[in-house]
Amino acid sequence: MSVCIIVGAQWGDEGKGKIVDMLSEQANIVARYQGGANAGHTIVFDGKTYILHLIPSGILHPATQCVIGNGVVIDPVALMEEIHMLEGMGISIEGRLHISHKAHLIMPYHKMMDAAREKQAGSIGTTGRGIGPAYNDKALRIGIRIVDLLDREALGEKIRTNLAEKNQILRALYDVEPLDVDAMIDEYVAFDTQIDPYITDTTTLLNNALKDGKHVLAEGAQGALLDLDHGTYPFVTSSNPTSGGACTGLGIPPTSITSVMGVVKAYSTRVGNGPFPTELEDATGELLRAEGHEFGATTGRSRRCGWLDVPALRYSIMVNGISEIALTKLDVLGALDELKICTGYTLDGKTLKSFPADAQTLSRVTCEYVTLPGWRSSLDGIMAFADLPQAAQEYVNTIEQLLDTRVVWVSTSPNREDTFKK
Ligand code: IMP
Repeated sequence: MSVCIIVGAQWGDEGKGKIVDMLSEQANIVARYQGGANAGHTIVFDGKTYILHLIPSGILHPATQCVIGNGVVIDPVALMEEIHMLEGMGISIEGRLHISHKAHLIMPYHKMMDAAREKQAGSIGTTGRGIGPAYNDKALRIGIRIVDLLDREALGEKIRTNLAEKNQILRALYDVEPLDVDAMIDEYVAFDTQIDPYITDTTTLLNNALKDGKHVLAEGAQGALLDLDHGTYPFVTSSNPTSGGACTGLGIPPTSITSVMGVVKAYSTRVGNGPFPTELEDATGELLRAEGHEFGATTGRSRRCGWLDVPALRYSIMVNGISEIALTKLDVLGALDELKICTGYTLDGKTLKSFPADAQTLSRVTCEYVTLPGWRSSLDGIMAFADLPQAAQEYVNTIEQLLDTRVVWVSTSPNREDTFKK
């Protein structure tokens, strides 16, 4: 048995979808453990682009089983759209997709409350997908779970109770029209009939698979620095993308985890608000955005771009227990004459020894940089580390040294084929 957890080591959008897709060929099961349709995993092969929000990236390998774990919050509309999109592209889902009966559902009022809160001052810059309000209800113990769809009467009662409160909040605080209870019950009952074949006890399924010696990839969404506990709170998502989240989000024991791979983009990006020490608000940032197509796969928003941030990554490696790195989007840096890497933070003239716990402090740090030469060329067609331009090899070797962690994969384009071992 083996479980490899794939985590985003930065603020999300590191290219996890591509790496999970590549590693899925060797996996029996790919299991998504947290987040919801706020994620956008892009996979490109055979000239086609697939953008997945909820279904694990392993679905594109016909022999791989896929699990949406209990830690995920499921938006029925997004899920059905994704199933139809995949079927329309000739990918068979039947018998391969397993959804936890313990997963919580995103309800229409979650999306409305997310959108309404975002209009208030001091917003986080969420994706507006209802993620925070859904996890909020989960913690308040008033959430509606997939298993609740089985009992129509109890479901109706739960939706009624929720709406009695939510309608008051929506009206009083956000001046939003009340939602219709019966229409909502009908919508979720109809959804139940559509997803019925996929619902199962995924905790037992996964643990039985592990007993049978199967190989599982646990797929995280977002990134470690957006983790509710360990990220740049309050500018974070509402779940735990860090590796610990895989155990609670799937119901597998910590003793089953065999490795943790961190996906690291060769520079940094962040969507939404919050501190970003290496951010480039200049022409270089613009160039990275244009070359790296740094626009959100879920919302289309422009991603903020900056240099690679070693203090943030060292913290991420520590919290996740990352033992190996997949380095993505190295090709994007070919557009620059020289490259900087942030090697440390200072605050009020003093070197910081650890990653700040509060966003306010992080927003005040000054970055120390090393400068490396760029390679100013395309990496098209390069299929081996030794064939990379000297400066590109030096950049990757420097990252390895600064992070004291092995880079095992290097990715040089969105295409499935353009990834090689270091
Ligand atoms: P939420 O997850 O929609 O509540 O958004 C909370 C924060 O996480 C915002 O800054 C979002 O931009 C960010 N976020 C959520 N999902 C992703 C993602 O998949 N990639 C990058 N940022 C994300």
